[in-house]
Amino acid sequence: MGKRLYLETFGCQMNVLDSELVMGQLCAQGYEPVGDRDQAEVILYNTCSVREHAEQKVWSRLGELRERKAREPGLVIAVIGCMAEREGLDLARRYPHVDILCGPGELDKLAGMVHNAIVTRLEERRPMAALLGNSTRRSGTLAAAESEDRLELLDLSRAVSDSESTRSAHVRITRGCNKFCTYCVVPNTRGPEVHRKPGNIIDEVRKLADAGVIEITLLGQTINHYLYDHGDGRKTTFADLLYQVHESAPSVSRLRFVTSFPRDFSDAALDAMRDCPRICRYLHVPAQHGSDRILRMMNRGYTAGQYRQFIERARQRMPDVSIASDFIVGFPSETDEDFQATMQLVRDCRFKNSFIFKYSPRPGTAAIERFADDVPEETKRRRNNLLLAEQQRVSEEGNRQMVGRTVEVMVEGKSKLVSRQLAAAGNNGDSSGGLVELGWKNRLVTRASEARTQLVGRTRGDQVVVYDGPESWTGRIMNVLVVDARNLTLFGEAAVAAVADQIS
Ligand code: 5AD
Ligand code: SF4
Repeated sequence: MGKRLYLETFGCQMNVLDSELVMGQLCAQGYEPVGDRDQAEVILYNTCSVREHAEQKVWSRLGELRERKAREPGLVIAVIGCMAEREGLDLARRYPHVDILCGPGELDKLAGMVHNAIVTRLEERRPMAALLGNSTRRSGTLAAAESEDRLELLDLSRAVSDSESTRSAHVRITRGCNKFCTYCVVPNTRGPEVHRKPGNIIDEVRKLADAGVIEITLLGQTINHYLYDHGDGRKTTFADLLYQVHESAPSVSRLRFVTSFPRDFSDAALDAMRDCPRICRYLHVPAQHGSDRILRMMNRGYTAGQYRQFIERARQRMPDVSIASDFIVGFPSETDEDFQATMQLVRDCRFKNSFIFKYSPRPGTAAIERFADDVPEETKRRRNNLLLAEQQRVSEEGNRQMVGRTVEVMVEGKSKLVSRQLAAAGNNGDSSGGLVELGWKNRLVTRASEARTQLVGRTRGDQVVVYDGPESWTGRIMNVLVVDARNLTLFGEAAVAAVADQIS
């Protein structure tokens, strides 16, 4: 009988994918996943370090476990992901009841470490750590190349059954990041950027498609920078890869990619989006700020004007493209004038939605070393709320234009999932005021008494649609007439053909 295993995931979609892969490996070795932490004999936290808020949640989870570990010394506790890499052995010193630390670049070693912790006699057990370490992280050394090969095996070993049930899956195309935006821990925690072999990506996509997956999201920190050098004079660009993935899996009717960097997005990649019918016309392309002075301090490498030109270029090719962004408010030295430039960018770019974060100084980043965190918390909060309100106005305006149109929706399940899924999409609390709006809640309450469930799904442009239908429609793609709209949600009615199809 395998050990009972509990895994909680924090942070971005890259972490969700890492968790899926790690879980697949451990389950293949006989561990049994459980949803209740109290029942588990092995507890894993896959952590995020992007903002302090995300780390605090993990500190408090670990604090809760201290007493239990004293009672049950056989319990195995592992901290994996970005926080393990960033904190390193300091974490084990602060919380000696943690047995395993494993950074995102070493996850292929996790199953072995868990096994070792279980079989080692209690009095001989010492904290184990698998971390990239400073030198590898910063320079992309030989060690990084080796770790890359091992990690590749982790992706290739994926078990497809989990994705199969939702019919939606993620596939990584790059790992790590070389941009070193001054506020960001990711280049430190995930290491230098490496690009996966096109053949391996295509194999993985085909495997998922064969298992019934119909929606695939390609993942990378700056995904449009994908470029694979085959070493024989041939190169595969991001645009080439999009065409290849699109052609290799015709049964995948929705192909997406996140996250794009506003610079170096080629015309060829935009053309691929326009010309391939199964690529969704959706871009998540974080602007981060509207002021050139702050963008320079952030080391983003573009001006607000250049960002606008990119949006313009995308819309010229695809007038219906749906665009989402991220913004940081309260970056060091941000004045009201700087902030107004961000507000103006949100007004002008007509984003579908924006994830808005208050600046959080992170140890190990350039910003914390160079700039004082001098915008008062109260000002950060006020700017966060103002920007959120502006974005909500823009979103509602965009959504209102959809009323009366029929949209293609992929059903994700019962609508109580809405807030959780949006949270998983990257909004980890800073602007949670915008996640579940009252209009939607009220509607849910009034409709809850009706016989049919309220479903939630997404359009090709990633808009959330809520409408009535049986739960058995989950995983289907169907046409829905939009009858009402709020800032975060479209309300619809399933088209008659879909209903007839269900009855027959
Ligand atoms: N403080 C606040 N927000 C941050 N982000 C990244 N680092 C920080 C930080 N130190 C935001 C950026 C990024 C998103 C994933 O998180 O907007 O796009
Ligand atoms: Fe962080 Fe910038 Fe890399 Fe995005 S591009 S992961 S914000 S360093």
